[in-house]
Amino acid sequence: MRNIAVFASGNGSNFQAIIDVIQMGELDANISLLVCDRPGVYAIERAKKSGIPSFVFNPKEYSSKEDYEKDITTELKSLGVEFVVLAGYMRLIGPTLLNEYEGKIVNIHPSLLPDFPGKDAIGQALRSGVKVSGVTIHFVDAGMDTGPIIVQERVRIEDNETIESLQKKIHAVEHKLYPSILQMLLVQGDVLYGNKARTY
Ligand code: GRF
Repeated sequence: MRNIAVFASGNGSNFQAIIDVIQMGELDANISLLVCDRPGVYAIERAKKSGIPSFVFNPKEYSSKEDYEKDITTELKSLGVEFVVLAGYMRLIGPTLLNEYEGKIVNIHPSLLPDFPGKDAIGQALRSGVKVSGVTIHFVDAGMDTGPIIVQERVRIEDNETIESLQKKIHAVEHKLYPSILQMLLVQGDVLYGNKARTY
């Protein structure tokens, strides 16, 4: 069984969805660690309730991204973490973590990338007037939501859609899609990373 770490910065509903499917026996993985950059957020409570250790840090207490990513990497390595799952982690991943986990970090984003990268993707989509948005799961590279796409699922935007209603629909898709793609990546084997076939 693969050891994974989940990185989250907020509510952690995707983190919870992953915890739940593991408990139901539908994802053969072990969450070794929650990594969180915001002391006090609800994702940390979720980890506690499920007996998952967490590494919570305040980036302001470090002099650089390299410094805190070195600490994170040390934690991940000591726990034998093989794969990193970003679930609402609001920071770019730097070279320290990318070099250590190249091709083994995935992210979920609430739009059909390359449309609406970065913050407030749901608000960006609504304001733009598009009729379809969705969810993207992709590998992580040094850019902002730019890594190779693994899967996308569409979500229709109705005429009377609000941020809240669209967010609810997007979360519902995310909570099903992310665990099933993780099972595919971690358990069932080959996927393409860039142009290269890789076995996980
Ligand atoms: C999700 O919509 C995800 O796509 C984005 O951040 C949000 C996190 O939500 N990256 P939650 O913390 O999992 O509830």
